[in-house]
Amino acid sequence: MNIEKFFAKRNSGIEWSGIRIMFALADKIDGVINLGIGQPDFDTPVHIRDAAKEGLDQGFTRYPPASGFLDLREAVAKKVETENKIKADPDSEIFISVGAMQGIFNVMLHLVNPGDEVIVVDPGYDYYSQIRLFGGVPIRVKAKEENQFKINPEDVRKAITPKTKVIILNTPSNPTGAVFDRKILEQIADLCKQHEIMVLSDEPYEHILFDGKEHVSIGSLEGMKDLTISIYTLSKSYAMTGWRVGYVVANKAIIAEMEKLMEHMVSGVTAVAQRAALAAISGSQDCVKHMVERYAKRRELVYTGLNSLQGISCIKPESTFYAFPNISSFGMSSWDFAKYMVKEHKVAMVPGSIFGENGEGFVRISFATSSENLEKALGRIEQGIARI
Ligand SMILES: Cc1ncc(COP(=O)(O)O)c(C=O)c1O
Repeated sequence: MNIEKFFAKRNSGIEWSGIRIMFALADKIDGVINLGIGQPDFDTPVHIRDAAKEGLDQGFTRYPPASGFLDLREAVAKKVETENKIKADPDSEIFISVGAMQGIFNVMLHLVNPGDEVIVVDPGYDYYSQIRLFGGVPIRVKAKEENQFKINPEDVRKAITPKTKVIILNTPSNPTGAVFDRKILEQIADLCKQHEIMVLSDEPYEHILFDGKEHVSIGSLEGMKDLTISIYTLSKSYAMTGWRVGYVVANKAIIAEMEKLMEHMVSGVTAVAQRAALAAISGSQDCVKHMVERYAKRRELVYTGLNSLQGISCIKPESTFYAFPNISSFGMSSWDFAKYMVKEHKVAMVPGSIFGENGEGFVRISFATSSENLEKALGRIEQGIARI
């Protein structure tokens, strides 16, 4: 029987994540060093875990409010005001989501009509399935290597049509580690105001910055508060990928729509996970600082190591725990290069083409793993290159 005949037509727009396909390949090979993983290798800090344990004993075992506990939303309001320079009412302008992912999904569901154009940065994080699921049309704006993978607002301007509804920005950026400077964001903000385009600003790596780089939240720029949906997560900053807690800051009408959907979808974010999130946001931020210091050392190792390899060049990432080296000199597609490295030399990495057609010729290497692993992996890549 053809079970697929029962599937809704909209599902055809969704694809398996390429990262998942790569990992399935890596899992079959013994002794692989996985540089593909997009999550911190650290454990969630103790004070955060303790708060969840206390939460269990305090009875946080029942349905939470659909938009999150008020004390957590209040802590978020303080954080976004001091750190992101966005003033938001905890009662109506903040929503606690199941990680950044469900925040993005929820927003897309509410905003995108069939035929609406959504501008995305290419190479950039894969938002394509979420856009297509609702009939949206992704419009790519290239982030060029020669511009350190920062987009040119002029290219954004050219991509705007009467059908443009949303632009998705992700700075600091996965997979390139680029941070869009204030000036770039100001110019994009002007375009959004002029054409009334909503910005979905996905900011999971806001804290993982190097060399004193500044992170600017576009929602803080003049006249952008109502035109920005800012998405944050605890996943990367606090090594909390498995807790599934994020938050969204937006105009109250948008937050109300999100809350409505949340009721029907998952009824809210797990209560004890919210207690952990409260401890993370309102507690000492030293743990974040320590993790970033470790990433900074590894970044140095990876950046120097990759650039010392014949045929590879790599821009120094300004943020995140990813490097995005150029491997085009080998004349192989990024998939072929990544498959070769995992099968023959036991190093897993993510093909750049997963991040859009302009990611072709690059691979993403995560340095969210020990320096020892990174050194070993660089040695293996060197051997692999010598045999191409
Ligand atoms: C750019 C970007 N957005 C969203 C997410 C999803 O994060 P979360 O774990 O909060 O759902 C990730 C995770 O890798 C990411 O890199």
